[in-house]
Amino acid sequence: MTLTNQYPSLKGKTVFVSGGGSGIGASLVESFCQQGAKVAFVDIQEDVSAALVDRLGGVPGNGEVRFYPCDLTDIERLQSLIALAASELGAISVLINNAANDTRHDFQNVSPEQWDKCLAVNLRHHFFAAQAVYPYMKELGAGSIINLGSMSWHAGQGGMPGYTSSKAAIEGLTRGLARDMGPDRIRVNCLVPGWVMTEKQLNERVDEVAREAIDKGQSVKDPLMPESISAMALFLASDDASMCTAQNFIVDGGWI
Ligand SMILES: NC(=O)c1ccc[n+]([C@@H]2O[C@H](COP(=O)([O-])OP(=O)(O)OC[C@H]3O[C@@H](n4cnc5c(N)ncnc54)[C@H](O)[C@@H]3O)[C@@H](O)[C@H]2O)c1
Repeated sequence: MTLTNQYPSLKGKTVFVSGGGSGIGASLVESFCQQGAKVAFVDIQEDVSAALVDRLGGVPGNGEVRFYPCDLTDIERLQSLIALAASELGAISVLINNAANDTRHDFQNVSPEQWDKCLAVNLRHHFFAAQAVYPYMKELGAGSIINLGSMSWHAGQGGMPGYTSSKAAIEGLTRGLARDMGPDRIRVNCLVPGWVMTEKQLNERVDEVAREAIDKGQSVKDPLMPESISAMALFLASDDASMCTAQNFIVDGGWI
């Protein structure tokens, strides 16, 4: 699927994406780059991230793209890289809190340390990235923060309570921050994907049983691809969405 819409308001804007090296994040990086935005992204996977920068860098019309290696559980490093990205590319207008890890875990065997680690990968960095971009957006007089949620807990999915708790909390965080930051014309929304056919999902989780569940669950039966998530993110980041804040935007083919 190729996205065709152009948003002039995104051209030249600085966009910061967490977990932009692969999956939905890589599509987000590419899609904003194709809008002529300047995109900074962080990820723990250095090789795939560097390859993405190489692939996008030389394409005419694309905005600048920069990768900074980072483990997002290190909040000090994350916040220092947000400052570095702003100094290199300009004040950050758009933040996409995308990184997560949906590793399955049995509720009976989770230790307090594992629980904290899971929330550090899936929830904690959302708040601290938002905290770090706030001064830039306030100075610019506008901004858009997009938090990636998940349909999993809406659908009552088990097998990963740390992940589903984080994703539920992200919706609360979104609404609270939208109220706090709204007077500065900073919008905060939650983009809620359905089951997206990333390479990782296809390699690790999508078997015949999963395909049957998708066919039964989705109203529109086509595979949900990362570009459909990016399409919503582009809209939410653009000036066209200037009165959209504090909401969930669900892109799941009509499942939940
Ligand atoms: N794929 C789906 O079906 C689906 C469904 C619902 C919600 N989502 C949400 O969409 C977002 C993207 O999902 P995805 O499927 O592309 O995920 P993914 O696991 O394929 O990719 C996540 C990216 O984040 C990076 N990352 C993970 N932990 C990190 C860390 N500690 N520090 C830095 N980078 C780290 C990974 O290297 C990877 O590039 C996530 O928030 C996820 O919860 C995805």
